[in-house]
Amino acid sequence: MQIREINIDRKYDCEHLLGKFLDESHADIMIENEAVNIYGPKGVGQTENDESNMICGLRPGVFSPEEIQEAYDGLKPGATETTNRSQSAGKDTSGIQHRRREIVTIDQLGIVDWMSKVGTSLTPITKKEISDQWAYIKGQIANGKKIPGVKNAENRGVTWQRKKMDDEGFLGTGLELLNKFIDGLDGKSNAEIAEEAQKFDKYYISATETAYPVLSGIGGFYGRYPRIPYCRTTLYSALDVKRWEKCLNYINKVDHYFKELLPTRYQNQKKVADSIDPELRIGDTAFTTITINNNFRTAAHRDAGDLKEGFGNLSCTGKGEWDGGYTVLPEYRVGVKLNPGDVLIMDVHQIHGNTAIREKNTGREAKFIGNKGNTEHAVDFERVSLVCYLRENMTECGSRAYEDLRKKYVQSRLEDKEHPEHKKYVHRSQMWNGVTAGMWEEDEWVDYLRKHGFDAEADELRPAVNTIDTLFA
Ligand SMILES: [Fe+2]
Repeated sequence: MQIREINIDRKYDCEHLLGKFLDESHADIMIENEAVNIYGPKGVGQTENDESNMICGLRPGVFSPEEIQEAYDGLKPGATETTNRSQSAGKDTSGIQHRRREIVTIDQLGIVDWMSKVGTSLTPITKKEISDQWAYIKGQIANGKKIPGVKNAENRGVTWQRKKMDDEGFLGTGLELLNKFIDGLDGKSNAEIAEEAQKFDKYYISATETAYPVLSGIGGFYGRYPRIPYCRTTLYSALDVKRWEKCLNYINKVDHYFKELLPTRYQNQKKVADSIDPELRIGDTAFTTITINNNFRTAAHRDAGDLKEGFGNLSCTGKGEWDGGYTVLPEYRVGVKLNPGDVLIMDVHQIHGNTAIREKNTGREAKFIGNKGNTEHAVDFERVSLVCYLRENMTECGSRAYEDLRKKYVQSRLEDKEHPEHKKYVHRSQMWNGVTAGMWEEDEWVDYLRKHGFDAEADELRPAVNTIDTLFA
């Protein structure tokens, strides 16, 4: 395979692009169907390109049609509706419309918050003042200023209470509702405006946050997490073990290309992988986890949670063909298109995101279609991208047996209705999840360990104290 080397001698500052969608204007070089190694600026004293300044390498068409199909069958169902992708999810409003959810924008929250506090203002507040203040808030946002009292980010935040609006027969948007509310304030005193704005806020703005939904999922294994404090097999892999095992051949091959392209980085990551219980990592690869995205155009982001010394291993499966969907690295002004059967080894700690993914003949953009397939946005292809990586926090996992015992312990506390923690959750909508702060240092856990034959782990938490007898024995 002929491999073209591309040298890029400048890195641009692109922090301002984080969370925003990228397009063709963010790259000067676009690569597709070509074996390339792309290198960034060399370090001080560095004369030759090597792994230290490599940004990415594309190896096109390395998987056979059968392997592409195998990966599609085995992994595609893993990408389901989630609102858990925050920055990389960007702002695909079709997802929100699909769920009939609408995030309250920062300026809307800002003006409601401001109106709620005008009660003590000495100048009478009219509609003109409200509109001037709203324009001022929008200006502040455009200049990158934070708005006091507002937590919402551009692509994540509280939503309009659609159900209440529906119940009242109000079918317009949140913005229209807010405008209608402000119209109704004409002639009211400052105290009345503040009181009504507070009521409006409480009634129509939900306290729970959401983000723009996408089709995405996780396979393989996952580390401890505050609410799930044990290492485990992800639900997707555990649900259908046969289906999962069918993908291992494919993941092994991704591992092989990683090793070939970046032997030193690979060895470092493999060493870390080998320190993890084989039952908590993917086969004999350098990976613990795989992220699956379906027709998901990511906004500019850096990957998080993977091993810092590692690299990203992207590959692609799917159905049909599409235009666009380039993975752009705006800091280097380069974009690479990943087609089914390609492998892209890439430094995912550099800012990256996708250009719009479009239907070949119509140019229609792939949008969020939900689990059930929203026909309004349906397109004739599926781009399923797979990211194989090692989750950094899996290095803190104990043996599989030990992690399974942690899980059993959490469940036993959950099921023990006499456990005093349960009494703190009185409303029927609430339930204790079996987790408390400091639970892994308590005697209750040490006793549980001993009861299940984990004496060495118990001794580590409660080292034996030397008595006079043992000292002179
Ligand atoms: Fe990424």
